[in-house]
Amino acid sequence: MSIPASRPSNFETLTCTICGAIHDPGVVQTICTEPDCHGPLAARYALEPTPRPSAAQLAELPRTAWRFPQLMPITDETKIITLHEGCTPLIPATRLCAASGLNSLWIKDESGNPTGSFKARGLTAAVTKALELGAQAIALPTAGNAGGAAAAYAAKAGMECVVVMPVDTPQIFKTEVKAFGGTLIEYEGLIDECGKVIAEQKEEKNWYDVSTLKEPYRVEGKKTLGFEIAEQLDWTLPDAVIYPTGGGTGLVGMWKAWAELEALGWIGSHRPKMYAVQAEGCAPVVTAFTQGAERCQRVENATTYASGLRVPCPFADRWILEVLRRSEGGAVALTEKQIQEGQSELARLEGIFAAPEGGAAWAGVKVLQERGEISPDTRVVVVNTGSGYKYC
Ligand SMILES: Cc1ncc(COP(=O)(O)O)c(C=O)c1O
Ligand SMILES: [Zn+2]
Repeated sequence: MSIPASRPSNFETLTCTICGAIHDPGVVQTICTEPDCHGPLAARYALEPTPRPSAAQLAELPRTAWRFPQLMPITDETKIITLHEGCTPLIPATRLCAASGLNSLWIKDESGNPTGSFKARGLTAAVTKALELGAQAIALPTAGNAGGAAAAYAAKAGMECVVVMPVDTPQIFKTEVKAFGGTLIEYEGLIDECGKVIAEQKEEKNWYDVSTLKEPYRVEGKKTLGFEIAEQLDWTLPDAVIYPTGGGTGLVGMWKAWAELEALGWIGSHRPKMYAVQAEGCAPVVTAFTQGAERCQRVENATTYASGLRVPCPFADRWILEVLRRSEGGAVALTEKQIQEGQSELARLEGIFAAPEGGAAWAGVKVLQERGEISPDTRVVVVNTGSGYKYC
């Protein structure tokens, strides 16, 4: 099935990131249905070089994550479900530069997004598409922030939202799901086990499963981080991006965004080294990267107070590892103390009360400096993925 010609978008189709099979974008899709594949799907666009918007044209564009609808998988721009997410600041971290000896360091500060985290980007896209495709209810497992964001966007869309959350997730994440009218199921287990609860019930209950990278549109929302970083650096890219990695959506999303911008001719071929930061108590990506493995092994008894990083085995492990390797980046595991110190330094030196995950990203820079992978002249972007206020 093809998308109507009047679309504002160059969205063409969905392809499997593992086997390349094409999937119909006109119906609800989750993962690849080819036998023995079950890989994540990704939206593909028909892109040709076009002039980059001028400063005057950019000034006219919406100041949300939907700034470039031609690069989003939608058919009708008037039906976007938005809470004015995105267009977050890229803050020059001058005092952290002085303290660390770096010359150029920016914090992409996602804490001001609706519901206090970058999960808003993914869920604005997923809920918009769910509505467009006629879904009545979405369901997802969450380590915390995604559940609140899903419930908020579902509220705006008038859609049912079911969130399954580990029982030991901080209370605020439970409170916000209920506040937005979502159905909260608390489960004695980690996020992947919460995902199984959804998998078992979704057919019978007619839920659209929007688990991380098990549907193709949250990553489309997350990739807008990559569009914004490029635009904010005047269509250049930094040399290193440090990303606190759970399911890895933002990491693979940014990489995808830059390929699309390059296909349009808006940026060149320079790419940052991509670094995944995780907690020692749950570092499946770091372990697989270090061992040269293609897949992650599940971490038993995963623990960290950076709850967004408590993903024992990311579904899109191959995609994440491919981006780390192709970018010639790397992966860093941090102690809880290092994460706390990172969070505290962001607050005390930059006035940013970051989520622990954001603190981990900054703490990762210091480790990479010690390892000699980041030097004073490396232009570094640290992604602060959420607000520290939600963890109090
Ligand atoms: C604040 C925060 N940072 C980072 C992450 C990890 O994000 P991703 O799943 O895209 O790797 C999460 C996920 O819950 C989160 O809530
Ligand atoms: Zn496949």
